[in-house]
Amino acid sequence: MPNLKQVLVCQNRTCRKQGAKSILEAFIALPVPGVTVTASSCLGQCGNGPMVLVLPDMVWYCGVRSNEVALIVEQHLIGDKKVTQMLDKRFHPEQKK
Ligand code: FES
Repeated sequence: MPNLKQVLVCQNRTCRKQGAKSILEAFIALPVPGVTVTASSCLGQCGNGPMVLVLPDMVWYCGVRSNEVALIVEQHLIGDKKVTQMLDKRFHPEQKK
């Protein structure tokens, strides 16, 4: 089953201030077949960034750090399992810390 996910990494001003450029670079450095990594404009979640949205799963990760990107890549993009401890609670209120 081909993996056809898209990773949007917000590169708008607020997320960039919070380090979004290195998050984008970290995803690009760990390519996964069938997964597209895209620099996006504001995802409407400024201040909680860097924001990462995985489509078509509609999974939101907030406050992503570059040393956490490998975990998202391995567990979610390759393993198809959300990284529950990193989910944005506003979009995934079912997740308890
Ligand atoms: S600047 Fe990234 S969500 Fe708005």
